Amino acid sequence: MRLHLIFGAPGSGKGSLAKLVNEKFALTHLSTGDILRDSVSKETEVGLRVKASMANGTLVDDDTVNGIVFARLQDETRGVLFDGYPRTLKQAIALDDFLSKTGSEFGLVVYIDVPMSVLESRIVGRRVCGNNACGAIYHVVRKKPVVDGICDFCNGLLIQRSDDTSQAFHARMAEFNATYEPMLAHYRGKPNYRQVDGIGLPDEVFNAISMLYEEYV
Ligand code: AP5
Repeated sequence: MRLHLIFGAPGSGKGSLAKLVNEKFALTHLSTGDILRDSVSKETEVGLRVKASMANGTLVDDDTVNGIVFARLQDETRGVLFDGYPRTLKQAIALDDFLSKTGSEFGLVVYIDVPMSVLESRIVGRRVCGNNACGAIYHVVRKKPVVDGICDFCNGLLIQRSDDTSQAFHARMAEFNATYEPMLAHYRGKPNYRQVDGIGLPDEVFNAISMLYEEYV
């Protein structure tokens, strides 16, 4: 199994890009944010435990996230694209350990670089399909659905994530600034690490990323 990683700040476009990459290259898209939100909406034991910290914009503890990820990976045979994982150096080291034990390998590691000044408007304007199986991503200004409030793909109702408020955004950025750099330093400098400019139009960013995946998938 080959694992590809896509990193970036809240609102950098990881989720939108990962869905497109997944479609084009037939990878399994694993978003720890989506998995955790699904647990919250189903009120599972994990969901009840992490609900408040997710809404506040703080990270879920490493052991919980690693446990969820490794359980998912047990049954995977094809390439996997992680969006939002690993997020801390401890998670990155645990993933290295998992890979070496299972004989899996890293594919492409991409960091989407977007300046803080454009992130907040992306986050507070985001709307997502409330049907978790779909999860399509919209924006109130830049990516509107055809019918206001309704998903183009599955007719689900569009909702605003509980952590897509200005207050939670700043908490998420504080977590990002405190944890991402040591984790990124773990990958930066390796031959499969790339940084991509994420402030172009969504299609332009996707095209830039697609060219990289052509080489690694
Ligand atoms: P998670 O769901 O991973 O949230 P995040 O990292 O904050 O990232 P987002 O989903 O907010 O943004 P994105 O980069 O995917 O952007 P998107 O494509 O949607 O995590 C949520 C929470 O779960 C965390 O706070 C934490 O509590 C917990 N968690 C998750 N993983 C964890 C882990 N490993 N460890 C611990 N805790 C964890 O785009 C955003 C908006 O911008 C959209 O409206 C989109 O249309 C628009 N947009 C996208 N690209 C462009 C573009 N090029 N130009 C203009 N607009 C664009």
